[in-house]
Amino acid sequence: MKKRVYIKTFGCQMNENDSEKVLILLKEEYVPTDNPEEADLIIVNTCSVREKPQHKVYSEVGRYKPLKKKKKHLLIGIIGCVAQQEGENLIKKLPYVDFVLGTQSFYQIKEVITKLQKDPKPIVLTELTNEFKPPLVLPEETLSKNTEKVTAFVTIMQGCDNFCSYCIVPYVRGRETSRPPEEIIEEIKRLVELGVREVTLLGQNVNSYGLKEKGYPDFPELLNQIAAIEDLWRIRFTTSHPKDLSEKLIRTMAENPKICHHIHLPLQAGSNRILKRMNRKYTKEEYLEKVAKLRELIPDIAITTDIIVGFPGETEEDFEETLEMLKTVRYHEIFSFKYSDRPFTTAKNFEDKIPEEEKEIRLKLVQELQKTITQEIYQQYVGKEMEVLVEGFSSKSKTQLMGRTSTNVIVNFYSPRLDLKGRLVKVRIEEAGKHSLKGRYLEILK
Ligand code: 5AD
Ligand code: SF4
Repeated sequence: MKKRVYIKTFGCQMNENDSEKVLILLKEEYVPTDNPEEADLIIVNTCSVREKPQHKVYSEVGRYKPLKKKKKHLLIGIIGCVAQQEGENLIKKLPYVDFVLGTQSFYQIKEVITKLQKDPKPIVLTELTNEFKPPLVLPEETLSKNTEKVTAFVTIMQGCDNFCSYCIVPYVRGRETSRPPEEIIEEIKRLVELGVREVTLLGQNVNSYGLKEKGYPDFPELLNQIAAIEDLWRIRFTTSHPKDLSEKLIRTMAENPKICHHIHLPLQAGSNRILKRMNRKYTKEEYLEKVAKLRELIPDIAITTDIIVGFPGETEEDFEETLEMLKTVRYHEIFSFKYSDRPFTTAKNFEDKIPEEEKEIRLKLVQELQKTITQEIYQQYVGKEMEVLVEGFSSKSKTQLMGRTSTNVIVNFYSPRLDLKGRLVKVRIEEAGKHSLKGRYLEILK
């Protein structure tokens, strides 16, 4: 009988994607389980982008310590960004941990486990090299709960070269490298064979895809190559750095019907002074020009963003400018965070830190304002007929289905037929909720 692996994933979609790869790499020896109590191998995939998720690692891993007493052969490992950042320190603080594998080293997990089964000495691998090329790990059907997925993530590039002054990513994920286009296409074709109809391409800055590599297509060209895959209906991507959002990309999005009408375009802050200190390399005026171009060529495009409040030195006037930007751009949704000091970053050494209470106030203000804007935007969907790709049952009830619009808004809807997973359907929107829409099924389109 195969052994069981339990994997807990924190952080971004890139981590989700890496966790899936780990399961594929282990598939000959381990089947996934949802219950850590019955696992023979427990892996925690960690995030260090802000302080809070980093702290969670210790409590999460600590929770599994008693299991180790009950089950002598149980292996516990830490992977992801905190593993990369802390390396040996994790073993010092959590001596019962068997392995720590960084963001480039986790591909060696199979060999690491074989080694540990012979010799229980903890293994730490955290090398980070500029030449690193992730090996091709093709999606598998055998991962029980992941079968019949309608949507999937595909990592197209690793690392980041931008060094925004607050951000730890370039230090824990290394230099930016793009995966070869043939491998990306091969992976997506396999996903489509497994029933996937929508892919989300992942990278810290997808807009600079292929620019460092000789002979690679650029990002708009890659999108067109992917769109040529038959039976793939929808393409999404994240994240776009505003400084690299080209007119060519906007035109490609407008012209290629498979590319969804949504863009995640992190603004971070609305004041030019703060943007400069953040090393974002664009001004708010340049950002607004790109938004205008997007709306000109793709009038129904949904724009979402990331906002950091309380960056060192952010005055009330600077913060007001962030609020003004939210009112001007009118995002569908925002992800907002209080600035948090991260190791290695330059902002960590800035002196004029904003007190925690003030950051808290600003975060609330941003979120309150956005709540109203999102509600107003969602209200505009009511009465419209939208194309929805059905992902499965709604999370709240098995009598409703759930899918997303091209603009990435979640729609829960009643339907006389419940066997519509993987179909593209038309839904009449009847009600707007806080983070989703409600509707009624009209017809199958595909
Ligand atoms: N503090 C707060 N938020 C941060 N982010 C990245 N680094 C930090 C930090 N030090 C946010 C940014 C980024 C998102 C993924 O996380 O908004 O876009
Ligand atoms: Fe971090 Fe900036 Fe790179 Fe995004 S672009 S991962 S915020 S350094």
